[in-house]
Amino acid sequence: MQNREIFTKALEFRHACKLFDEKKKINEQDIRYILEAGRMSPSSFGMEGWKFLVITDEKLKEELKPCCWDQPQITTCSHLVVILGALNPLKLQSGTPQKRFARRDLPDDMIQRYVGVYKTFIDAKRDDTDTFAWSARQTYIAATNMMMAAAVLDIDSCPIEGFEKEKVDKILKLDTDEFQTSLILPFGYRVKEQPKHMRRDFDDIVEFVR
Ligand SMILES: Cc1cc2nc3c(=O)[nH]c(=O)nc-3n(C[C@H](O)[C@H](O)[C@H](O)COP(=O)(O)O)c2cc1C
Repeated sequence: MQNREIFTKALEFRHACKLFDEKKKINEQDIRYILEAGRMSPSSFGMEGWKFLVITDEKLKEELKPCCWDQPQITTCSHLVVILGALNPLKLQSGTPQKRFARRDLPDDMIQRYVGVYKTFIDAKRDDTDTFAWSARQTYIAATNMMMAAAVLDIDSCPIEGFEKEKVDKILKLDTDEFQTSLILPFGYRVKEQPKHMRRDFDDIVEFVR
């Protein structure tokens, strides 16, 4: 199959799976392939301000379900990935941004220039809510890559924003100054075939600007 066809097939395969086959489990190699797609995702300034919690414990899934609008995906999936967005690690006081920039093969003065630009950017955030919103936006890019990597392997997923954040953070015992729940992403195998995607027309959403 040509690259173009592989990607189109994955786009068509992926859908927001509402119910997974509880008997089918994703193997170690495949879940690692999916998570690797998240790890390799782009992030603003290369900060990689995310963490992926992988949950397979059935009791923990049961505990989370009521805080996730009782959605059956939470307990029927094979692997529940909770995507966390960083907060403190994105602040200069943590020393983490400096470490991220220092990985670049650049002279020290260039690194310092990057840190300066970053300082102006991060200092302009109004508050922690604003900083986390920036952090969370980027986790959605990692989520998309993971969903598409899964689709290439004929593995289903469903992005879940329908959850009570504070309760989920608490159940997962997160230090919310460091990381907070951004998106919940179950993976597994569909129980039944899916209807065709409903999408707006190409010309309705795309405008080639001259
Ligand atoms: C950010 C985001 C949050 C979503 N949250 C939920 C959710 O909580 N539960 C759910 O069943 N689907 C959720 N969805 C799935 C959408 O409803 C679905 O992607 C959309 O209806 C299009 O359907 P398709 O993905 O099957 O093509 C979410 C999708 C996105 C992008």
